[in-house]
Amino acid sequence: MKILSLPLALALAAPTIASPLSPRASPPPWTILPTATRQQFRGLSAISPTTAWAAGTNTTILRTTDSGLTWTSVGPTLSPNDTNKPLEFRDIEAFSPLSAVALSIGEGAASRIYTTSDGGASWTNVFTNSDPAAFYDCMAFDGPLRGMAVSDPVGGKFRLLRTDDGGESWEVVSGDGMPAALSGEFGFAASGTCLEARAGRWYIASGGPGSSRVFRSSDKDGLIWEVAESGIVSGEAAGVYSVQFRDGRNGIVVGGDYTAPGARVNVSSWTADGGETWSVSREFPGGYRSGSAWVPGRCGTAIAVGPTGSDFTVDGGKTWRGFDNGSFDSVVCVTGGVCWASGQRGRIGRLVLG
Ligand SMILES: *[C@@H]1O[C@H](CO)[C@@H](O)[C@H](O)[C@H]1NC(C)=O
Ligand SMILES: *[C@@H]1O[C@H](CO)[C@@H](O)[C@H](O)[C@H]1NC(C)=O
Ligand SMILES: *[C@@H]1O[C@H](CO)[C@@H](O)[C@H](O)[C@H]1NC(C)=O
Ligand SMILES: *[C@@H]1O[C@H](CO)[C@@H](O)[C@H](O)[C@H]1NC(C)=O
Repeated sequence: MKILSLPLALALAAPTIASPLSPRASPPPWTILPTATRQQFRGLSAISPTTAWAAGTNTTILRTTDSGLTWTSVGPTLSPNDTNKPLEFRDIEAFSPLSAVALSIGEGAASRIYTTSDGGASWTNVFTNSDPAAFYDCMAFDGPLRGMAVSDPVGGKFRLLRTDDGGESWEVVSGDGMPAALSGEFGFAASGTCLEARAGRWYIASGGPGSSRVFRSSDKDGLIWEVAESGIVSGEAAGVYSVQFRDGRNGIVVGGDYTAPGARVNVSSWTADGGETWSVSREFPGGYRSGSAWVPGRCGTAIAVGPTGSDFTVDGGKTWRGFDNGSFDSVVCVTGGVCWASGQRGRIGRLVLG
């Protein structure tokens, strides 16, 4: 969806944060890294404890290969013949320090996909949307070759693009096996996690007035889909912002209402049956949350981030506890217990779980 900039006053509203389970279980606060930019980064991808990419407003893409000590601005240079408007990147998927795929959002031709294989020295515009009804929100890859991008419903159904060559070419997936969207249902281009690929399955998160659902497909080509209610609050700017699975069965969703970032009832749910049924958490994160990530190798541990702070769970999303009050939009974690977060005013953070 289009609107997603948070008034500063709301972003700075103090959240209510429960005390951590125990000091040992709680992650340390985020270490804020020097990005030297004020752009907003909703796109984030990390491939190791040392290497990460962030994609954001004003055609800006940053890359670090030294744990975030230094960041290089490596976004594409736009030709004035091509577009006179800066691109607003909302998602990036990196495969190595050299190769990545980035998605920009906007009406019509502002929805684009770019690839690089030289660390951002050069970019290729591999997809430009030509359908005025389409609005691409997120991408996900289930490996280095196959990926999908999801658009808000076109003709009453979520539309998917699929690549089988690592992002070089994209084609529209048939919508015959996609359940109808509800009236006013859409996805949130808030953190690059409204589409998820894990263990050969795919998931789409939705929101909107009366809509707060998770679509699922166990078909590698994304042809056949089912859908379930998430239990998260719905509304004009409310619903499921982020869906993440750690295997074929265990998943978390977070979201809420970004116009009421401190409201913390029914902003997260969990599943243990592959998304057939979702249960709302027993204890919620401290407010609306836009991004989430499992910590690889740490069983039920995951982190959620939003404008009013960050939270963690150690029981697969049944209970959440706050551990940091800073504003972030997106989070990713890699093997080794290292997590990265990114958000507004150039904020990028990193932490290492004990
Ligand atoms: C966007 O980037 C250009 C080129 O770096 C810069 O001149 C301009 O001030 C930036 N605009 C905003 C709104 O940050
Ligand atoms: C832009 O278009 C003009 C007119 O077609 C052409 O002369 C020029 O070389 C183009 N510039 C670039 C950077 O492609
Ligand atoms: C939260 O979810 C529970 C369980 O689905 C429901 O009974 C309750 O009415 C919801 N509360 C709000 C404020 O949405
Ligand atoms: C978050 O902010 C509240 C209110 O300022 C404060 O009481 C609490 O200790 C902070 N929590 C953390 C984890 O920093």
